[in-house]
Amino acid sequence: MRLFTTVAGLRCYLHLRRSEQERAGQKLADANPVTVGLVPTMGALHRGHLSLIHRARQDNHLVVVSIFINPLQFGANEDFQTYPRTLEQDQQQCEQAGVDVVFAPTASELYGTVLSVNNALTQVLPPAAAIASLCGRFRPGHFEGVATVVTKLLNLVQPDRAYFGQKDAQQLAIVQRVVADLNVPVEIVSCPIVREMSGLALSSRNQYLTEEERSQATVLYRSLQQAEQLFRAGNLKSSDLLTAVQAELTTVPTVKPEYVELVDPVTLAPLEWVEESGLLAIAAHIGSTRLIDNVVLRNRQPILAIDGPAGVGKSTVVRQVAQTLGLLYLDTGAMYRAVTWLVMQSGVALDDQPAIAELVSQCQLELENQVKSLPSTPKVWVNGQDVTQAIRSAEVTAHVSTIAAQPAVSDR
Ligand code: PAF
Repeated sequence: MRLFTTVAGLRCYLHLRRSEQERAGQKLADANPVTVGLVPTMGALHRGHLSLIHRARQDNHLVVVSIFINPLQFGANEDFQTYPRTLEQDQQQCEQAGVDVVFAPTASELYGTVLSVNNALTQVLPPAAAIASLCGRFRPGHFEGVATVVTKLLNLVQPDRAYFGQKDAQQLAIVQRVVADLNVPVEIVSCPIVREMSGLALSSRNQYLTEEERSQATVLYRSLQQAEQLFRAGNLKSSDLLTAVQAELTTVPTVKPEYVELVDPVTLAPLEWVEESGLLAIAAHIGSTRLIDNVVLRNRQPILAIDGPAGVGKSTVVRQVAQTLGLLYLDTGAMYRAVTWLVMQSGVALDDQPAIAELVSQCQLELENQVKSLPSTPKVWVNGQDVTQAIRSAEVTAHVSTIAAQPAVSDR
């Protein structure tokens, strides 16, 4: 494992690793480009961070963990000075988890000297609506600081994927939004909350808690679970769910709630009802420690996917399962066939991936509700034209696997 504290060292290392692989790729036709996973952290690593690192390790050739306590995201009265600094232990944990690079710059390395000069730094400003709720209301400037440092880290590392915990749900939603709005070429991977047996969500700030406070803090998750039970019993109304959380929180008077809110998990706008999904989130003070926790309440039908080799009867099984459970059946095979038909019709070469990407992003693809249409073949339209028969032709069958394998098609 390598430790870099400078941008120059990090960039040089990543450049060398990527170009080594490129050279290998020129010799070996099937050598894939290096994929890089970034896990941004502020250190004081715990099992929650390790779950992100393990996921990154599974998905990528190279794993970079950044450890940087970002001054920009702390308010004047917050815990920047006392935030746990445990670089040596963090490095050991990273080494054991198979991390390739730890990037641990100083504030002046990352921001230069401009941090001390008011308004001298270019910052990333998340949408006002996304910072108007939850922690954004109580931590002015926090998400601007997070968005700025995450954007810098993404620019420096240029990872294929970056990993964030669902525990900081507002941060995750804002990072996803920033990446989409600024067209940053990275996949944001969200990882589930890791909890202690008691239900307490792991956090670097749990270190501040006394034994007694740690036990009091378990009321956060218990109160979310009360609301979750109510929700599962069919109550989708925000005011009832919030009342259930608050009622449980009052059983531990030393826990002082800052907010309890139910918002849309993507836009973060407050909800009156959970239609599809809702993010139920809490922040509370226990002694001098501020903790957050959340659950996502989902009120939508499950998505089932069946994978396997061609010709083993996947479609038949899926259609029957969908019919029995009353679910919508999406025939991805027909979607790929439709795109293949479109490419062939347009005269674009089958290996001209940029042109295919343009075609795919502009085309209107419609599939008939396939369960309703059973037992006849469901209809497929491309740009308003009925192609149900055409996509079953021998020419389309011959080329569909080439087209389906292209990222521009499969990612869409
Ligand atoms: O979640 C954190 O630890 C921080 O907010 C992050 C994403 C590393 C940015 O400083």
